[in-house]
Amino acid sequence: MIKAREQRMSEPDFYVNKILLRRAFEKAAQAYDEAAVLQREVASRMLERLDYMLIEPQVILDAGAGTGYCALDVAVRYPGVQVIALDIASGMLQQTRSKMKPGNNISYVSSDVEKIALADNSVDLIVSSLTVQWCNDYIKAFTEFKRVLKPGGCLLFTSFGPDALKELRHCWHKVDNDNHVNSFIDMHHVGDALLQAGFKDPVMDAEIITVTYNDVYQIMRDLKTIGAHNVLNGRRHSLTGKKRLQAMVAEYETFRHEGVLPMTYEIVYGHAWEVTDSVSVRFEKK
Ligand SMILES: C[S@@+](CC[C@H](N)C(=O)[O-])C[C@H]1O[C@@H](n2cnc3c(N)ncnc32)[C@H](O)[C@@H]1O
Repeated sequence: MIKAREQRMSEPDFYVNKILLRRAFEKAAQAYDEAAVLQREVASRMLERLDYMLIEPQVILDAGAGTGYCALDVAVRYPGVQVIALDIASGMLQQTRSKMKPGNNISYVSSDVEKIALADNSVDLIVSSLTVQWCNDYIKAFTEFKRVLKPGGCLLFTSFGPDALKELRHCWHKVDNDNHVNSFIDMHHVGDALLQAGFKDPVMDAEIITVTYNDVYQIMRDLKTIGAHNVLNGRRHSLTGKKRLQAMVAEYETFRHEGVLPMTYEIVYGHAWEVTDSVSVRFEKK
């Protein structure tokens, strides 16, 4: 089952169209914070993990910074640190800039995480929340992360797992054969991609967070507001008809429980160290 999904993701139909991706997030930048409740929660849970790492980074990269939730957190967490907020959508970076506080040392880079516009060995810590799942090639993104990390540097990230948006995916599959909902990669495969990129001993875990909604249209509105459109090459190129939409909504109603509709998010967490032969010390406490 996992294998089948993996294979499908290497097919051209499952490729993310980067032009559409950037456009979607540019458009979403201004209203993103209104709907990004789950995204903030996930980023907070990821950043809490820094409490258990004895690190003193001087340069931190927030890869896929969005409106700057992580960049602003690490700027406070590590006073005096230089933070680089990087995103494919410059509108997102403008939102981050608008929240900067006096004393923050944040610079902005408009770039793709699969081809990072930063020098080798230039960053001590990378934080990246809910961004790598938008990449076509996890190994490419992780290889880029490893390239820009200094020896001994740390990567901390989150992604979606295969069960994220499973209700929506199931309901659309009942209606037609089009790719309405993105597919996501299992944490074991994400861990393998880290190893293939040259990271050592990646630590992976996953959890389910269920968000409840009053109606399906609200779910679709929230996804649209944060810019989470279907930007796969194999998406339907004509408008989805009203009848199909109504059939999907009716199908989703079968999930209603205690008056609300669930939306499952499988969250994958990972961290890994850039370990060269000359650096063998881990700075982690319990
Ligand atoms: C779901 S948002 C998460 C934003 C932020 N990390 C947070 O937790 O709120 C995903 C962000 O990743 C950016 N993004 C997606 N694919 C990217 C890529 N290939 N390179 C750089 N940024 C990307 C989007 O523009 C968007 O701002």
